[in-house]
This record gives sequence, C-alpha cells and structure tokens, in this order.
Amino acid sequence: MSPLNNDTFLRALLRQPTDYTPLWLMRQAGRYLPEYRATRARAGSFMGLCTSPDYATEVTLQPLERYPLDAAILFSDILTVPDAMGLGLYFAEGEGPKFERPLRDEAAIRALAVPDMAELQYVFDAVASIRRALDGRVPLIGFSGSPFTLACYMIEGGGSDTFSRVKTLMYDRPELLHHILAVNADTVAAYLNRQIAAGAQAVQIFDTWGGALAYGKYQEFSLAYMKRVIDQLVREHDGRRVPVIVFTKGGGLWLEDIADSGCDAIGLDWTMDLAAARRRVGDRVALQGNFDPNALFARPEAIEAEVGRLLASYGAGSGHVFNLGHGISQFTPPEHVTALVDAVHRLSRAYHSV
Ligand code: CP3
Repeated sequence: MSPLNNDTFLRALLRQPTDYTPLWLMRQAGRYLPEYRATRARAGSFMGLCTSPDYATEVTLQPLERYPLDAAILFSDILTVPDAMGLGLYFAEGEGPKFERPLRDEAAIRALAVPDMAELQYVFDAVASIRRALDGRVPLIGFSGSPFTLACYMIEGGGSDTFSRVKTLMYDRPELLHHILAVNADTVAAYLNRQIAAGAQAVQIFDTWGGALAYGKYQEFSLAYMKRVIDQLVREHDGRRVPVIVFTKGGGLWLEDIADSGCDAIGLDWTMDLAAARRRVGDRVALQGNFDPNALFARPEAIEAEVGRLLASYGAGSGHVFNLGHGISQFTPPEHVTALVDAVHRLSRAYHSV
C-alpha cells in the first residue's frame, strides 16, 4: 500500500494538530454530479453501482476529481446489511428503498441471525479496489447504519415519517426489538471489521433515525447498541488508529452520552451550535459537521460567510472535521460545492496557526 499523503482528516479526528480544517461531505458521491448520473445509467441501477467494485470505485473517486476533499467514503448503502440478512432490498422508482420481506411477525424476528459475511464480499472488494485507486491520496472512510436505524427500515419495510411500527414494537414487545438490535449490532461489528481489514481507515456509524426516539429510549435502543458495536471494533490497523465517528441525526441533546460510547468523534446535524457542543464534550471527542446542506443553494458569497461563521464558532485548535449536517441534496449546484471547499480550506488556516 502507498503511504498516506494527506492524513489531515485522521489527525483531526484524533484531535492532533493540523494546518487547516479537513472536510468531506456526507453523500459526496451522488446525483448532484452529472458524472455520477452518467455512470449510474451505464450500470443500469443504483445497486448495480454498489455491487460492482469497478463502478463503486469510479463513483467514489468522482467528487475527489472535482474537489480537493480530505477523505473519500466508500460508495455503498446502509441497507446492503439487511439485504444480506435475507430481507430482499429493492429500489422502487421515485419511492426510495424498500424490503420484500420486512420483519412483520415474531417468527421472522426470532429467525433473524448474523449473516455470512461472504454475502457482503462485494463491499469488501470495493473497499480494497478504492484503496488501490486512491493510491494514498486521502484516507478512505467505511460505514454502516446503526443497529437502530437498520431496524427502522427492517421493521417498517422502507422509509417512514412516523416509525409507528417500530415504536409500537418498542413499547409493546421491547424484548423483540432488543433481539433485532443485538443481531444487528453483532452484524454491524463484523461488517465494519471486515471493511477495516479490507482497507477502511476510519468508520462512521450512520444513526439517521436515533433522534426520533424519546429521552431514555435513545440511550436504551440506539446508543447502547452502537456501544456494543464499538466495543467489538478493531481500533488499530496497519499501525494506525482507526477512528470511529458516531452520527446521530437529532442527537444534539445527548452529546455527553454519545461521547461516552467509546467513539473518537461525534457527527453533528445543523441544529447544533459548534461552540456549545465543544464546551460540552471537552477534550473527550472530536466534532464533525455541521453546515446546513440547504445553505448550498445560496450564492457562493453567502456560502463563504456561513463557513466563516461555523469556523469561528468552533474556534482555534484541532478536533474539527468540517462536513454537512446531513447528506448533500441532489439539486445542489456542483459549483457551489467548489465555493464551500475553497472557503473551508482558505479560512480555516487562521484557526490552526501556532
Ligand atoms: O456518503 C457517500 O457518498 C457514500 C454513499 C452513501 C449512500 N447512502 C449512497 C446512496 C451512504 C453513506 C449512504 C447511507 C444511507 N443510505 C443512509 C444513512 C445516511 C443518511 O443519509 O441519513 C440511509 C438512511 C440510506 C438509505 C437510503 N439509500 C435512502 C433513504 C435512499 C434514497 C435516498 C434518495 O435520495 O432517493 C438511498 C439511495 C442512495 N444511497 C443514493 C445514494 C447516492 C441515491 C441512489 C440513486 O442514485 O438514485
């Protein structure tokens, strides 16, 4: 493997000094890029991209060809995991992801088991292929959904506005939800460890729906199972620490609890004040975030002003990875991302001078 030429992202996650604030963008490879849409058309479908290591490598690198981002993220999806568990993932045109066999009765829940990781070999092959193609340019991030967020899709059978099935199960039959979450946690841990073995240099757990839970329920049904994942993760590979980022959308109320999970960094959505978040977590973890993805529709001058405001609110010193507060919109003008990346790199240097 080639040596890593730019380790700014990994250093910031470990709160080590850097020359500037590194950045990457959640969903940085995707439909807002015309070159992504062209590759997707050649592959025939979104899953066609995910299951082919060559296509996955091509689209992972597309945003890096346009922008000097400080990390790449594996191109895949969180729902490959329940698919490997036999739930039958499909994408209905214009409706988002769905499952043919969602968990709708006790027998299906009791039958759920950690799948053979060979079912996900295409993901590990993509990780290895992307590492080769990156050739040490920037680190590669692996990822998984959180046990709870995966359970939401597995029980609802697709996206949901209310999560009424998940919440009914949680209040009526908590032991059944605990069973699903335990299986998911052990699966996610094995899955991430295989990504790390294949070359992922940091991992992020996407807890997109943990923030939909009530106080107390978040700790019991989402955070406890992310902790069960983190406790099983390989934390060092090839002589380097493999940092773990936990992103709970809507998790700002529970930062102290998340900081105690054993993660290295917390991803923040746009509702948080970075200065307040930094005071609350102290030097326990790094912070990642939290530019409002909708601010990318504004003029480049307005984008730059907002970047300046966020950098100032974090303040001087390391421990901040710039990112969006959630995934980039498919309607984002690609030139606005140029303005964002340039502003972060240029304006952040003042906060890192010794
Ligand atoms: O960040 C990256 O660039 C890596 C790729 C990535 C995708 N999905 C690609 C994708 C990652 C990290 C994900 C994670 C993911 N997938 C999450 C958690 C993060 C989040 O955004 O909250 C969730 C909840 C999913 C499930 C999922 N996959 C949904 C709800 C959708 C439909 C979204 C939509 O906008 O239609 C997907 C499909 C998906 N995953 C796309 C991409 C680029 C769009 C597919 C397409 O090309 O049509």
